[in-house]
Amino acid sequence: MTRQKISVIGAGNVGATVAQFLAFEDLGDIYLFDVIPGIPEGKALDIQEGLPHFGVDAKVKGFTTTSGDTYSNLKGSDVIVITAGLARKPGMSRDDLLFKNLEIMKDVANNVKKYASDAMVVIVSNPADTMAYAFQKVSGMPPNHIIGLGGSLDSSRFRTFIADALNVSVKDVNAFVVGGHGDDMVPFIRYSSVSGIPIEKLLSKEKIDEIVHRTRFGGGEIVDLLKSGSAYYAPGISITAMVESIVRDKNRVIPCAAYISGVHAKHYNVENVFIGVPVRIGSNCVEEIYDIDFNADEKELWEKTVASVKSNCKKVDDFFKSGAN
Ligand code: 2OP
Repeated sequence: MTRQKISVIGAGNVGATVAQFLAFEDLGDIYLFDVIPGIPEGKALDIQEGLPHFGVDAKVKGFTTTSGDTYSNLKGSDVIVITAGLARKPGMSRDDLLFKNLEIMKDVANNVKKYASDAMVVIVSNPADTMAYAFQKVSGMPPNHIIGLGGSLDSSRFRTFIADALNVSVKDVNAFVVGGHGDDMVPFIRYSSVSGIPIEKLLSKEKIDEIVHRTRFGGGEIVDLLKSGSAYYAPGISITAMVESIVRDKNRVIPCAAYISGVHAKHYNVENVFIGVPVRIGSNCVEEIYDIDFNADEKELWEKTVASVKSNCKKVDDFFKSGAN
């Protein structure tokens, strides 16, 4: 079997951390791209030189995208992870990055379309649901080959806080977050359990509310602490889990931003946008979307997060229509 080729576009903190985890996990050869000369080459070489300790033979290469047609090295990529874009600073929401990152995403999407339109694509640049929408619009690539980070990371945070509150192993905590990867994401309490025991039986309402709030603002908590940039270790691991499920065809069920259409549009009452839902991820990326039921309270939260995602997608449409790009 030939080794998979995984390209990571954007070699900042998130991109380089993903590249590192992907290489350590021996998931494939890693091609790292960035606009700043020397950064992708230097970080790739640095990762490569550590791999003998893990007995990993993967090749890790870096390419500066601002000199020559280096994007042509995307050719043959099985998976492409897009992290390119600005990160948040304290006081900013993910949505504040929209227009800046849209410009960047447009250029990246055109290059992916040109060189690797058969690849499976994981969108990380924020706001991730909206960027997935913009990427699909520009590239015209099959929507089911595209997923956005969100639930994978938010659920990992949610599980961390539940395990911590109950002093139980994270392995036994099953929990997930749906909706947009923004401040009104929906940590799904009713579907969260510890080895099958609903968390509502184990934690007080106050404690659950506190955990839900901390999960929603988990990214912001890190931004405030770091003061320069956003989280990258938990995002790096969460992205690696998604990529692993694609390259090893694991069929893991991970919430992430997927394109909603057809029967799912009817169920989720939203159409032709990317938003966080439970997805079975395999070699064809989105293998299946699960339609989960909402009670009245959950439905209200769901409609709110849908409205935010739709409003951002409208901004993308207006941006492309206006020719301001
Ligand atoms: C976060 O939640 C980077 O959006 C990412 O930390």
